[in-house]
Amino acid sequence: MNTLPLARSPLPSYGAVMTENAITVQQTARPHGFPTTAHFAFVESALPAPVVGTALVENLYWSVDPYHREMMDDVPGGFALHTPLEGRTLGRVVASRTPELTEGDVVFHRQGWRTHSVVRPEEIRRLPRFDGVPLTAFLSILGGTGLTAYVGLTRIARLREGDDLFVSAAAGGVGTATGRFARLLGAGRLVGSAGSAAKVDHLTREVGYDAAFDYHEGPAADLLEKAAPNGIDVFVDNVGGEQLAAAVGALREFGRIVRIGTVSRYNTPDAPAPQFNYSDIVEKSLRMEGFLVSHYRDLQDELYDFAVPHLQSGRLTPDETVVDGFEHIVDAFLGMLRGENTGKIIVRGDV
Ligand SMILES: NC(=O)c1ccc[n+]([C@@H]2O[C@H](COP(=O)([O-])OP(=O)(O)OC[C@H]3O[C@@H](n4cnc5c(N)ncnc54)[C@H](OP(=O)(O)O)[C@@H]3O)[C@@H](O)[C@H]2O)c1
Repeated sequence: MNTLPLARSPLPSYGAVMTENAITVQQTARPHGFPTTAHFAFVESALPAPVVGTALVENLYWSVDPYHREMMDDVPGGFALHTPLEGRTLGRVVASRTPELTEGDVVFHRQGWRTHSVVRPEEIRRLPRFDGVPLTAFLSILGGTGLTAYVGLTRIARLREGDDLFVSAAAGGVGTATGRFARLLGAGRLVGSAGSAAKVDHLTREVGYDAAFDYHEGPAADLLEKAAPNGIDVFVDNVGGEQLAAAVGALREFGRIVRIGTVSRYNTPDAPAPQFNYSDIVEKSLRMEGFLVSHYRDLQDELYDFAVPHLQSGRLTPDETVVDGFEHIVDAFLGMLRGENTGKIIVRGDV
């Protein structure tokens, strides 16, 4: 587990976290390009009181995600301005007015970016207890991040033993989980791309990738050709852009492209779309399929059955970057967009 050396904003602009009050993070303006701390405000109010049928949860861990950047734009379902933001969160029940929740229960819910939440029982998910598995895993390798990697490999790529893979943003949350799962599922050669030499090193030394490259170091097609001279069967695409075009060229007959995300474009939507050879899709019988993990929640238990024994035996390790302090949640989010995380980025409160 890493801790993130963040370029932190001065705290006075946010105000300090005071335990007797609740704090929410709200978006105050729409960014054009890369967001900054000026697009957010920390808003303090009295601790909310649970009404009958609800419970008060003190939040412990927060997930900040690339999709939050997409929601900052003026898009359907996006973040409303001057309203507490939402996201995946783990918290502990501290007061309850429902028999379904008891003080001390640790729950998963989606009211993120706030120190406290009032939840109804149907809004939370109880977390199973697995000996030796840290709580943070429910936001990383056992959470939506791990489920995305698992669905991408098993349902979209329909991975076969010996398949050679290329994974973009391989050192991030989804990318590290993809590499580790692919290894356990019997993949052949694993190639990853990432944004720094340290990440490239992490991929080959720790995660199980056979080769990796820093995508800043030249044209993606050349770097991929060098790392996978015999081509690939599957491309797990977290990034889009030039790397997607390169992968189309490198895929063998009956290759699969798993479109997971397009993080290279979230801050530069006006950049020209990548050009690739459309004929390759026909002539090599390629299949390109995207998906949203929210359509695969029914596979959560299957993910536990697959991953938990490996976590307990030590064959599988969650890759996480943990940022301490709710007051740094915006810095953590911006740092993740800049590529400062290795593995899933998680913000930790007073646990
Ligand atoms: N389909 C779904 O349901 C679903 C679910 C979860 C996530 N996703 C998508 O999966 C992708 C990864 O998400 P994650 O949560 O695991 O985040 P992550 O990979 O942990 O963090 C984002 C990473 O993106 C990389 N990045 C930023 N700008 C880039 C650029 N211009 N070109 C290439 N890489 C860039 C950075 O790493 P580098 O240092 O390597 O640049 C950064 O660490 C995202 O596209 C996300 O939207 C989709």
